[in-house]
Amino acid sequence: MKLLLLGSGGREHALAWKIAQSPKIEKLYIAPGNAGTGSVGENVDMKADDFSSIKAFVLGKNIDMVVVGPEDPLVKGIYDYFQNDPELNKIPVIGPSQKGATLEGSKEFAKAFMMRHSIPTAGYKSITASNLQEGLDFLETLEAPYVLKADGLCAGKGVLILPALEEAKKELQEMLSGMFGDASATVVIEEFLSGIECSVFVLSDGKNYKVLPVAKDYKRIGEGDKGLNTGGMGSVSPVPFADAAWMKKVDERIIRPTVEGLAQEKIDYKGFIFLGLINVKGEPMVIEYNVRMGDPETESVMLRVKSDLVELFEGVAAGNLDKKILEEDPRSAVSVMLVSGGYPEHYEKGFPISGLDKVKESIVFHAGTALKDGKIVTNGGRVLAISSYGKTKDEALAQSFSGAKLIDFEKKYFRSDIGFDL
Ligand code: AMP
Ligand code: GLY
Repeated sequence: MKLLLLGSGGREHALAWKIAQSPKIEKLYIAPGNAGTGSVGENVDMKADDFSSIKAFVLGKNIDMVVVGPEDPLVKGIYDYFQNDPELNKIPVIGPSQKGATLEGSKEFAKAFMMRHSIPTAGYKSITASNLQEGLDFLETLEAPYVLKADGLCAGKGVLILPALEEAKKELQEMLSGMFGDASATVVIEEFLSGIECSVFVLSDGKNYKVLPVAKDYKRIGEGDKGLNTGGMGSVSPVPFADAAWMKKVDERIIRPTVEGLAQEKIDYKGFIFLGLINVKGEPMVIEYNVRMGDPETESVMLRVKSDLVELFEGVAAGNLDKKILEEDPRSAVSVMLVSGGYPEHYEKGFPISGLDKVKESIVFHAGTALKDGKIVTNGGRVLAISSYGKTKDEALAQSFSGAKLIDFEKKYFRSDIGFDL
């Protein structure tokens, strides 16, 4: 099979690494990819949301399947673009339809969907400039802290958690008057939920589904989960509190109603569903839906998928995922991100990376790297994900930290407390 994977981050390198291990793969292309994906497949200089170039490439190279890494092409409707084109509609796209991607593209849509299907989530109200007063009144009924979410995609920056009521009221008005452009023309105000979070990944063919290994990510830049939000500083799988009893609740109350709800509403969904969950006194609740794999969760989750991922994708495409097997590796897997000093604020790019060949016991996934004059250099805030196996989480972490020390680039930074709260 010839497969085209779209995207360019650490998530895509991890997916490409796993896909390339399938005996079914004759050729793997990654568009646009990065310096790491080029070692497991062939990079194509093409943007992940440039649909007409993707069409020309897919037809020119006789691609058999397209797997979508990031949310952008999904929210822009790549699935529907293929479906509606007579030359492309036999080629499966692993990823939801545009309507399905609205679960991530609109917080208001996601909340209303959960209400329709009685899926446990925080109470909320959806506010625009025309019902601002209702929003201010709703805030009065809540207790601190206050959660304000821009309805649309904001590259992970659209959620504000505010300690004081007056500040929340002020920020609500700022959001509505364009703090995040059109994305915050609607704001979802939510009840604050207190608990520990985890990421549950589901692969669905629209009717049947498989649950992938559960992971937890670490979003803040500083140790002890302090400081600014980032794209993710590391991840751990499995997550001890997500045991069989808890996952049974997740399945019955959240996953099944989600997959059945999508089918009932005739929303085409053949792809990953990412449930951002929170454990509130033993009960799982949904914080958010995403319509793709998580980053940096994928960099530990892929290590724990023993089965052939491409065979699972074939099950998604054919609608017979119930006939496929998803076997988990019993070992722990972790991933530690090496980032550029200054990230998530100002940072420099283009520093040469040394020591990659010294790391033998970990898998190094590239996130923000590029090839310059034959050398691998930093090319983003998050640069490399050092992923390792271990009999325990601590053993895996020790392995990743020793790898993190062997690799060097100017102003390298990483968190040495990944997994501290588990
Ligand atoms: P989201 O983009 O919806 O995942 O929100 C970003 C982060 O904000 C989440 O990972 C949570 O840590 C936090 N968060 C979002 N909604 C809530 C909520 N209702 N209660 C508590 N924390 C929340
Ligand atoms: N790790 C969270 C995300 O991918 O959105």
